[in-house]
Amino acid sequence: MPNGTTNVCLIGNKFMGRAHANAYLKVNKFFTNLPSQAVMHTVVGRNVEENQTFANRWGFKNTSNDWKAAIRNPEIDLVDVTSPNNAHAEMSIAALEAGKHVACEKPLAGSLDDARAMRDAARKAKKQKTSVWYVYRRCPAVALAHQLVKEGRLGRIYHVRAYYLQDWAGPDVPLIWRFSRKVSGSGAHGDLGAHIIDMARFVTGDEFDSVNGCITETFIKEREIPQAGSKGGIAAGAAGGTAKKGKVDVDDATLFLARLKGGAACTFESTRFATGNQNKNGLEINGEKGAIMFNFEDMNHLNFYDRTIDRKVQGWTSIMATHGGSHPYADAWWPDAHIIGYEHSFINQTADILSVLGGKPPVVPLPDFEDAWKTQQVLEAAFLSAKEDRTVKISEIK
Ligand SMILES: NC(=O)c1ccc[n+]([C@@H]2O[C@H](COP(=O)([O-])OP(=O)(O)OC[C@H]3O[C@@H](n4cnc5c(N)ncnc54)[C@H](O)[C@@H]3O)[C@@H](O)[C@H]2O)c1
Repeated sequence: MPNGTTNVCLIGNKFMGRAHANAYLKVNKFFTNLPSQAVMHTVVGRNVEENQTFANRWGFKNTSNDWKAAIRNPEIDLVDVTSPNNAHAEMSIAALEAGKHVACEKPLAGSLDDARAMRDAARKAKKQKTSVWYVYRRCPAVALAHQLVKEGRLGRIYHVRAYYLQDWAGPDVPLIWRFSRKVSGSGAHGDLGAHIIDMARFVTGDEFDSVNGCITETFIKEREIPQAGSKGGIAAGAAGGTAKKGKVDVDDATLFLARLKGGAACTFESTRFATGNQNKNGLEINGEKGAIMFNFEDMNHLNFYDRTIDRKVQGWTSIMATHGGSHPYADAWWPDAHIIGYEHSFINQTADILSVLGGKPPVVPLPDFEDAWKTQQVLEAAFLSAKEDRTVKISEIK
């Protein structure tokens, strides 16, 4: 990072491309003590015109439709991978081999083999740092939950109840890449389940012991082949359908039971068919001394129950996690109760990436490829449990 700058090569310019570009644009304006300045050096996408429009809009200096050449540019420090899941491994491994730091979107990969190869490449890389965009860790309320558990405020953890509920995948949504196993690896499980597995590991500080039962369901088995063109987003990933249909080979919903090593009994539910819930990413933890509840649709709040106080005043406290000096990341933002939104989790994560690249600690732990591999093992164990209708120990997944 010459002259205190981090030159970024961003691969992908749609939904996550926009979220990350916004983060590079803002990060040093709000986090003023970072070891380096993010520089939007190159954006890579498949369409030359789209690349130029994106670069002009966000302030990237260069564009490319050849990611292999772009990541090798000696000026690049950090390669940011926001392509669909089947491309994460090839791009991330090539970037590490070219001597670059890598920040890759989640899940680590679409397949266990790809994820393992990425973990191994990260282990082999001597100087480069890796990170994965499990951004919900960086909602101040979730980071606060992590801190409360670490301080022992929940005591022994009995239950983890995690759900990620969306409802966008009705029968009229065409066969975009999120419904193709070849491209995405899985459906709701890898897309949404990966986030709540990561959040549960992060907040409890515990690891999974086993998956003790799992069901997966594909409600809509065929969808229209999309027209060419995509404006990005989730359901908005295609310009519309054609008369021809194709088969859906991923899960629309996956539900599983699990045990953590510390003994907690857990339920996990991920679905794109939870009518009435658009982005309800929720985590509830019940412990011997206290409990927490988080729901992303009310992301500035963490609900906390303190069981150690006088019973007559026990009750849920709704903590607005916006107080600078008390709440993680809040110093960088606005006065109390001047709330933040989705994009801030990406800006907070970018601040932590720049800190780690500059040898400083992140505000709360930043998942690297080794860490994200552990989430990938749980994803795999759940599918194996569903397939073989049995308990699967995480230690079986190698
Ligand atoms: N962290 C989160 O909360 C979050 C949210 C949504 C998506 N994601 C993840 O981000 C990734 C991308 O999802 P998205 O919603 O942005 O998808 P998208 O379809 O909106 O965008 C994908 C981008 O990748 C580009 N791309 C694909 N192959 C390429 C290639 N060979 N060379 C150059 N560019 C290529 C496409 O042109 C497009 O710009 C996925 O892994 C997804 O799971 C993460």
